Amino acid sequence: MKAAAVDLAALVKAAREARERAYAPYSGFTVGAAILACDGTVFTGANVENASYGLTLCAERVALACAVAAGRRKFEALAVVAASATVPCGACLQSLAEFGTSWVLVLAGPEGPFHRLDLQALLPQPFALRGGNG
Ligand code: THU
Repeated sequence: MKAAAVDLAALVKAAREARERAYAPYSGFTVGAAILACDGTVFTGANVENASYGLTLCAERVALACAVAAGRRKFEALAVVAASATVPCGACLQSLAEFGTSWVLVLAGPEGPFHRLDLQALLPQPFALRGGNG
């Protein structure tokens, strides 16, 4: 499926629903994410915080881990929803890049329009092991 043909609005809707399940008692900053795999399956995630703050899981990486654990390794797009359109953190960008650099990223708030950009614009030079990953 080509990104142009992807229903990005539906992906944002899935991320908005996922955000409602975020566990963020410490920051109060809830995030939802939805990943579209190349076979059309959507995987969602939300941030999961911990009293030991550094153990907090970002929404994007929760969604990515769910997708990979379900057997997917090829992806089209990621939608992220927060209180306003928010760029994923660097750790999440690097995690996405592990599975390719042609991700379409869709950023949105709780309602209204979304913004589309490419992972390559945000992370043009991801870390890679000298011999290649994997
Ligand atoms: N957070 C995410 O879920 N994704 C990001 O890309 C950055 C930050 C979460 C982590 C924490 O629960 C809250 O937002 C505030 O940093």
